[in-house]
Parts: sequence; C-alpha cells; structure tokens
Amino acid sequence: MSTSNATPDNLMEAIVSLAKRRGFVFPSSEIYGGLNGFFDYGPLGVELKKNIRDAWWRDMVQRRDDVVGIETSIIMHPKVWQASGHVDGFTDPLVDCKVSKQRYRADQLFFSPVVIDGQTVAYVSALESEDTAAQLQAAAETYKRKKALQGPLAPVQPRDMTEAQPDEIARIPSPATGEPGSLTPPRAFNMMFETYVGALRDASSVSYLRPETAQGMFVDFKNVVDTGRVKLPFGIAQIGKSFRNEITPRNFIFRSREFEQMEMEYFIHEDADWAKCHQEWIEWCRRWLMSIGLPEAHLSLYAHPKEKLAFYSKGTVDIMFRYPFGVQELWGIAARGNYDLGQHAQASGKPQEIFDEATKKKFVPHVIEPAVGVDRIFLAVLCAAYAEEDVTDDKGAVEKRTVLRLSPRIAPVKVAVLPLLKNKEHLVARARELYQRLQRRYAVFYDDGGAIGRRYRRQDEIGTPWCVTIDFDTVEKDGSFTLRERDSMQQRRIQEAELFALLDEYVH
Ligand code: GAP
Repeated sequence: MSTSNATPDNLMEAIVSLAKRRGFVFPSSEIYGGLNGFFDYGPLGVELKKNIRDAWWRDMVQRRDDVVGIETSIIMHPKVWQASGHVDGFTDPLVDCKVSKQRYRADQLFFSPVVIDGQTVAYVSALESEDTAAQLQAAAETYKRKKALQGPLAPVQPRDMTEAQPDEIARIPSPATGEPGSLTPPRAFNMMFETYVGALRDASSVSYLRPETAQGMFVDFKNVVDTGRVKLPFGIAQIGKSFRNEITPRNFIFRSREFEQMEMEYFIHEDADWAKCHQEWIEWCRRWLMSIGLPEAHLSLYAHPKEKLAFYSKGTVDIMFRYPFGVQELWGIAARGNYDLGQHAQASGKPQEIFDEATKKKFVPHVIEPAVGVDRIFLAVLCAAYAEEDVTDDKGAVEKRTVLRLSPRIAPVKVAVLPLLKNKEHLVARARELYQRLQRRYAVFYDDGGAIGRRYRRQDEIGTPWCVTIDFDTVEKDGSFTLRERDSMQQRRIQEAELFALLDEYVH
C-alpha cells in the first residue's frame, strides 16, 4: 500500500465543504439564507471545539499552580466599557460606497496613483489579498491600455484608505462599481453590539455584549485576590463568547461576529522583569499549539512595531499561522502594564492594589495577556490536518482518500468500533461490549454499515485516529482484534488492555 499526499489548491473550499458535509460547521440560520459572520457547530464540530477548550483549560488552569479560572457575565455594567476605553476607542475605520452601499474596512482597501510619464492620471483600488500590489499593478496597466495612454508607467505605490488625502478619496474608484466619486472618507465605526437592559429602551439602559472576555478578569481581580489563596505572580483565565460587529467578517470562521475567546491575565509585580515573563508566555503558547498538533513550520511570530502600540502597552507579539488565505494572527500576547486595573480603580473609586510585604507598600500589578480565539484554532487545526491522498491497495488499484490528521488529543472521535459483519450475533455482541466499555471514558463511534474499507474512509475523513475491527479470530481465538491506524493505515492485532493503554497515552 503506497500513498502520495496532496493539499488541494482550493484548500479553503475543500475545508468548508467537508465542514458542512460531515457536520463540523454550518452557516447560522441557513434555512433563512444565513447571517453573515455567524456560524453553528454541528455534532462533530462541537466535540472538536470542546476538546480544544478542554485541552487549554487543563494545561492553562488545572495543571498549573499559578492560574485560576473564572466565568464572568457576557453583559457587564456599561461603565466597564467606558473605563476600558472600548466605548470611545474600540473602532475600525469604515469606508462606505454611496452607490453600491458596500462597506469596507479602510485598512483593508488599498489604492495607488496611476503615474504615467511622471503625471498622476488616475487612481486604482483593490481589496487586501495575498497579492494586493500585483492586482493594483494589473489595474494600472489595464487603465493605461484602455485609455491608449503613451509613456512609461511607474510601479504602483499601494497605500490603504486610512492614509488617503481628501483630494485622493474623490479620485479613488470603488471596488464595487469601478468608478471614482462614491467612496466616503474613513470614519470610526464602534464594533460593540449594543443592547438594552430592563424594560426601558433609552440611553440609560444601553449596555453591550462584551467584545472580549478580558475585562471580566480585571473587574473581578479584587474578588479573586480576596477570596482565593493567590500570590503574585498569578493568572486569572476565562473561556467564553465575545461579540464584535466586524465590518468585513471573512474567511469562514476566521473573523466572525460571534466567537469564543480563551484569555488569561497574568498579574506580576510592578518591578518584575515583564519582558522575560512576556517571552515565557509567548513560548508557552507556541508549544501549546504544537501540543494539539499544529506544525511548527506553520507558526511564526510578529512583534507589533512600537509606534503602533497603544500608549500604555509595553509590547505585543502575535503568534501567526499560515492559513490558506495568508499568514494571519492566531494568538496575541500583550504586555499591558497596569493600564486596565488602573482605569477600573479610577472609574470605580475602588483601589485595585496589592500589598507588598517586602516594601510595605501598595501597588497596582502589571499584566501579561495571552488572548486567543477558539474558532481560529479550530480553523488552523482543520487547515493543518486536511489532506487528500492517492492510495494504492495490494491489488494495485488507486483510490482517493480524504484524511484529517488531527491530534488524538482533540480528535472528535477517538476510536471507531467496527464489527466485521453486522449479521453475526457473536461479533456484534463482542463489538457492542467493547464499545460500551470504551464509551465510559472516550468519545467512540460504532459503525456496522457497509464494507470495512468504506467504514475506514468515513473515519479518516473526520479524523478518528484508530479503528478497531472485531472479527472471527476475536471471538473464536485469543480475544485480540485488529487495530487500524489512521495516518499509516497499518493494521495489527492487539488486546483490549493494550488499546486502553494506547488511548491513555495519547488522548490526554
Ligand atoms: N483582550 C485582548 C483581545 O481581545 P484581540 O487581539 O482583539 O485581543 C484576541 O483578540 C484573539 O481573539 C485574536 O488573536 C483572535 O484569535 C481572536 N479574535 C479576535 N477577533 C475575532 C473575530 N472577529 N473572530 C474570531 N476570532 C477573533
């Protein structure tokens, strides 16, 4: 049996299709045409997502002595979001096209002057992509050709709409219509979803769906310090839904309007070596991503330039992942100083300090914040795991198999139990018995429908690491059964105790 491995050119299309076909992710409210930026997780998706969350919680909270967990409410006092700066500053720059009514994020809409013989004769525009500059260059060449202009065309100089001057905005064509004159200057668009609390619908009852889970940790800081036995340095972690009215949700579940975050605020002494602590957390997060199966080669680091950081921030490094649509942020690790606790102390009038026994002084702790989205990990995991292979069987016949090489730690189903034949009572009885024993501890699947090869393929496609087949030897000889391994497709005989030992080693 030989295989040749391939990642399809249209990997995103293949993943979206598999996600729908096998019940990982569906568009939300699909029967009504869907709702842009919202998704549902199906029976397998919900298991995979839960496994990602559980692995993070186990490693981040339960297996550490210095991190505790909390769960705070999604709707918090509106003053939280004023103090945190979200009411005034949680905005993206928005550009409207007055003709098509399309909306663009200004920092994702690029333009360039078309310069011929040293003169700007027009402008071209393109939406951000892997090859924005090439698209702009092609548009400039097309313009020159269509207008039959003579003279050398200068290379394009891409800038985004946040940098456009008023006289340029009037000349930049809308990507929707191809014509200039309809784009508005960028304006700040607040991404928080508003709602009303209570029976009155007026300014006094306006509240927000949280745009991040982090503020819950800051607002409950004193509660945790006063009730737990935490000592600096220590972290408070939370997993939960966040909501952002993104202008351009895109790339499937990569940027959505309702998503789930796993955030941890690690509080340190004001005199601690924050840079060292920051580095340690970056490395911890990178290693953790590898522990759930993301290949090291797909990961890279991006340090935000100092001049683009918020004034209080000491440094932010993103762990980037090579998605099919480009290298994008997966996990942000920010050194935020003591800005958040300081803001809440000031706004609430309640000091957010800790007493230092050594110096006998009170101070506001500083914080390192690793913040990641569950849905982004989910997508990264699918992208890294997906493969299509040509498989040659013993008789030389070639067939395609789709396989998700998911780590056993997060695979939605750990083992599939397959009786060789479904009409042989003693095979079925033994298979059912094993299935029920496995089910007590693991997510397992029982499948007795169709040829055994086809049953293996069905499990390959959903990432099940192992299949066990109960055959006549199992019941008539030594009780052993066939263990078939997903990635190598190799088969060997094992006993039940060995199977449990194998699962114990790889699943947790
Ligand atoms: N408390 C800091 C914070 O929320 P962020 O960089 O805005 O920082 C953290 O978000 C992580 O949340 C991101 O790295 C990403 O993984 C995830 N995330 C942010 N916006 C998202 C969206 N619209 N859809 C899916 N995931 C998102």
